[in-house]
Amino acid sequence: MESPTGSVSALKTLRWHVDAGADEAIGDAPVNRFAIAEPTAEKKPETNAARPAPTPAPQKQPDVVKLESAEETTASAQAMATACNTLEELRAALNAFDQCPLKATAQNLVFGDGNPQADLMIIGEAPGADEDRQGLPFVGVSGQLLDRMLGAIMQDRENSYITNILPWRPPGNRKPTPFETSLCLPFLLRHIELVEPKALMLLGGTAASTLLETTTGITKLRGTWMNLDLKGTKIPCLPTYHPAYLLRQPAQKRDAWRDLLSMRKQLHDMGAKS
Ligand code: URA
Repeated sequence: MESPTGSVSALKTLRWHVDAGADEAIGDAPVNRFAIAEPTAEKKPETNAARPAPTPAPQKQPDVVKLESAEETTASAQAMATACNTLEELRAALNAFDQCPLKATAQNLVFGDGNPQADLMIIGEAPGADEDRQGLPFVGVSGQLLDRMLGAIMQDRENSYITNILPWRPPGNRKPTPFETSLCLPFLLRHIELVEPKALMLLGGTAASTLLETTTGITKLRGTWMNLDLKGTKIPCLPTYHPAYLLRQPAQKRDAWRDLLSMRKQLHDMGAKS
C-alpha cells in the first residue's frame, strides 16, 4: 500500500504499530494538535545574497526555571487541598485543578470508593483503563483480586475505603512521574486527613515509597508496620504487594496473606469497627 511518492501509507504505518502492540494513540503528555501550525513549503533563496541571516537556535530554558514553576504548581495544589473541609469539596477541588497533565488524557477523575467512615483505608498506585472508564478505583482484574484479598479478612467496600496515589490514569498505564506524584500528594494527604482511618494498607512500591518517603523497594518494605505522620497524628501503615503484581507472581501470595493477617490483627487490636 505505497503512496504515489513511494512513502509508506499512514494506514500501513498504523497497522504496523497495532501489530507491534500499541493500543493507544497518545503519548506521555497530551498534545494540542490544533495549536500546531501547518508546515509551510520553504522557498529557497535564489542567490546567496538573498539568503536571510540564520535564525539563532532557541535558547534552552535553564532547569531552575522549570523547578521553580513545579514548586509553584505544587504550592497551589497544597493551598487548594488545605482549603477543603469535606470529601465533596476535595473532589470538586480536584475537578477544578488543571495543572496535572494527566487530567487532559484521562476520561474520568478516580476519586475513591467504599465507606469514607471506614477504619481501614487502602491506597493503590493509579487508575487503569477500567477505572478510568468507570471513575472508580480497583474495578478491573486487579480490583477483583483486591476484593478477594479483603474478603479473606472480612473486609469489603462497606467497611474499607479505597483510593490511589494518583486520581487520573497515566497514559498506557505507565509509571507515574515524580512530578505527577508530588503534585497530587497534597490532595491525597488531605484525603487521608478527612477519612481519618485507623490503619492504611499501601499497595505496591509507588504507594509505599510516596507516602513513607523512602527509596526502599516493596520487597523489603512489605509486612513491616510503619507510621505516616500527618501533622502530628501517626497513622499505622502496612505496605504490601500490589494485586497486579500478585497476578503476575502468584508465588508471592503467601507473603501477601501474611500481611493481610497482620492487618486483621491490627484492626482487631485497635478495636476497629467491622
Ligand atoms: N491499580 C491501582 O493501583 N489502582 C487502581 O485503581 C487500579 C489498578
